[in-house]
Amino acid sequence: MRRLVFVLNGPNLNLLGKRQPHIYGHETLADVEKSVRDLAGELKLEIRFHQSNREYEIIDWIHEARETSCGIIVNPAAFTHYSVAVLDALNAYDHPVMEVHISNVHKREEFRHHSFVSSRADGVIAGFGTQGYLLALRRVAFLVDQKAK
Ligand code: DQA
Repeated sequence: MRRLVFVLNGPNLNLLGKRQPHIYGHETLADVEKSVRDLAGELKLEIRFHQSNREYEIIDWIHEARETSCGIIVNPAAFTHYSVAVLDALNAYDHPVMEVHISNVHKREEFRHHSFVSSRADGVIAGFGTQGYLLALRRVAFLVDQKAK
């Protein structure tokens, strides 16, 4: 299996670093991508890193990942809380899925407490800031290595 991991980011995450920094911090999505790529190099994983404000693009990338990848790390952002379509796409994916939220969604408004994606995710990380992406990547690497043994 190809050691390729898709890292998918939903709406408004293009504004990371500028958007509500008291909640999401000062790092930009480009900073996150760099950290993810650096760690992926150590873990001998390849990365496809994407962000979109359009639900169908996230779905199309999940479909693409079905054919090519060994794991998905997804921060679906607001789609988390209402997108059955993103859940359905992930349900058609056979490898590890890690759901990441920069903020602790459980400490925030009640509408953020429910995630459609969590019923498919193999792991959920919330409230670890942008470090959550790196923890999720380590977990995917661990699961992929374990499977290869
Ligand atoms: C988020 C949390 C979501 O509730 C919110 O809609 C986001 C970002 C996070 O990373 O903390 O856009 O997924």
